[in-house]
Amino acid sequence: MPGPDSTAAALFVCSPEDTAFLLAELQRRAPASQPHAHAPGLVRAAFADGLPELPFAFARQTLPDATPVDAASIRVWAESIAPRLAESFPDAQPWRRHFWPHYGTGTAGNHRCELIAEAVDDQLRRRRRHLLRRLADSGTPFAPDESLVQLVLTSPESGFLSIAPAPGPHRWRAAIPPFVGGWIPVASDKSAPSRAFAKLLEAERRLGRAIAPGETCVDLGASPGSWTYVAAARGARVTSVDRSPLRDDLMRNPLVDFRQGDAFRFEPDAPVDWLLCDVIAAPQRSIDLALEWAERGWARHLVVTIKFKGSDEYPLLDALLALAPRCTDFRLARLCANKNEACVIASLKSSRP
Ligand SMILES: C[S@@+](CC[C@H](N)C(=O)[O-])C[C@H]1O[C@@H](n2cnc3c(N)ncnc32)[C@H](O)[C@@H]1O
Repeated sequence: MPGPDSTAAALFVCSPEDTAFLLAELQRRAPASQPHAHAPGLVRAAFADGLPELPFAFARQTLPDATPVDAASIRVWAESIAPRLAESFPDAQPWRRHFWPHYGTGTAGNHRCELIAEAVDDQLRRRRRHLLRRLADSGTPFAPDESLVQLVLTSPESGFLSIAPAPGPHRWRAAIPPFVGGWIPVASDKSAPSRAFAKLLEAERRLGRAIAPGETCVDLGASPGSWTYVAAARGARVTSVDRSPLRDDLMRNPLVDFRQGDAFRFEPDAPVDWLLCDVIAAPQRSIDLALEWAERGWARHLVVTIKFKGSDEYPLLDALLALAPRCTDFRLARLCANKNEACVIASLKSSRP
């Protein structure tokens, strides 16, 4: 089996503060992968049976088969990357490029990544013009024919390169979000009742599906109403449950049906399109609620936050992995907009005719 320093090891990116939690998660779920921290925010692990398709909640991004590369100049970087792309990616299929720095502060590393990307383009223009034409720039989930090259610079002259030919990025889409470094800028909207709305926007982007006009939602723990605000703005009908009322304008919104009461006792009259749940509760209660809604077929899509006090209960998140085989899409992540929370985002396989 390759050791953690082998060139075939995966590299996981997390927020620097989450490094210990990601290491613990890997040690718990894949002890043979011998996870170790390369630097704060970068963890390597080797999987003898291939990279798992299920996500690690504390990993923000995954680089399959990440190879360490040293390159003294932009030209050498391009010479290390372009030939490997050219031999791995088919001419006729789209591919994406994610290059980003994981060192220093400010914009110097970003500029270097742009220069490396331009130099790679120059090389491809000479060797593989057709391949360059299929370079795509998108934040949508990976399609089965899309390939991905990721480069994370750990200094101006060193980094990790990961070349994932199709259908890898699609197959690992639960673990490889289609955003550079897995980072999604936190949205802002001064008209929303609170900043919580950013979590739902991020969840939609991660799933690659937004709440649609005419869909039905149940929003548990809805007050003051940011998630309800987002769903109603999309033209969905929302049943919002909380012990406290929503902001006044939402209470009057004809698309919103507010029910005062206990989120954990609420049962829908009929299955809905979306369960949205941001209730403040012990993590096991929110996990059980997500599992129950899935089990009962009460919603087609779930967005449920799991809130923590401290870090002792993070291993409880593993129970949510049981949902994955029943889903067409499954994500379990600490959102960029989350504080001490994680979020399960899932589309269930249809049980309806
Ligand atoms: C973080 S806030 C939700 C914010 C909301 N998602 C938004 O976008 O504005 C959590 C909410 O859960 C509610 N809550 C806590 N326990 C509850 C329960 N058992 N039943 C209903 N609501 C509950 C609280 O009243 C609070 O409004």
